[in-house]
Amino acid sequence: MEHEELLTKRKGKIAFLYLNRPEKFNALNISLLNKINSALKAISKDDKIRVIILTGIGEKAFAAGADISEFSEFKSKEAMELSKKGKEKVFDFIEEFSKPVIAAINGYALGGGLELALSCDIRIASNNALMGFPETSLGTIPGYGGTYRLAEIAGKGIAKEMILTCRKISAKEALEIGLISYLTEKNELLDKATEVANQIMMNSPNAINSAIKAINYSGRDSKKNCSEIESKYFSKCFDHPEFKKGVSAFLNKRKPNF
Ligand code: COA
Repeated sequence: MEHEELLTKRKGKIAFLYLNRPEKFNALNISLLNKINSALKAISKDDKIRVIILTGIGEKAFAAGADISEFSEFKSKEAMELSKKGKEKVFDFIEEFSKPVIAAINGYALGGGLELALSCDIRIASNNALMGFPETSLGTIPGYGGTYRLAEIAGKGIAKEMILTCRKISAKEALEIGLISYLTEKNELLDKATEVANQIMMNSPNAINSAIKAINYSGRDSKKNCSEIESKYFSKCFDHPEFKKGVSAFLNKRKPNF
């Protein structure tokens, strides 16, 4: 019951997190964001969990945004706090998380819902999904990292077009612009996400963590710093036992067992 608005389920080495406010299209209120944060903190300490799959409960929505009813009376001071706290606890937290997080987008991913998906390492969507940023129609802009994460993933032109027009795009279009990696039938979404999780789990968890950290720098720092960061994480892998394991498996024509 602790994570009522967030259901957690475990299947082998995969943790499934289900956003569970279907009556509100899984709108992200503060309480749900806090629950995502505590669930992830618990997962970070659990060595048996290797990949997280984040999805929404219900037929309609992954998440239809931040909960508008919570911020309708806000002024800039509270809005600043909302944005900063949300990033710290969830959006940046996921992006920098030590284990890969896959967003399985099962319906509307709007506003904060799309920002949540963009914070994840990999996105997969079912063919009923619709994605967009309605914020400018509400008189504001995305505040949980959407402006720069969408620009990084799909390019500034697409980010401006989607944010300025509030146009919702289909999963097919999301696939075409590289916003998602796979498009599935509705009932095959979690199977596909599980298949991707299984592919990731064939590889070294230490190397995966290092790759996520290095990739997160790309485009956000000078070329020189990105290069240095990559060399740092690359070289650190060589002191990790998983490097010996991987290389010795290759040399002995076996599959490594990470
Ligand atoms: N915040 C709070 N409540 C939300 C919500 C949000 N972001 N998105 C949906 N809901 C609630 C609705 O208020 C409604 O609750 P109610 O039944 O108590 O009135 C319920 O979820 C269902 O939404 P409804 O609008 O009746 O469904 P619909 O099928 O007509 O439309 C959407 C679905 C997603 C298109 C529409 O709900 C919507 O535009 N939501 C807001 C999206 C948005 O602007 N997000 C960015 C926020 S910054």
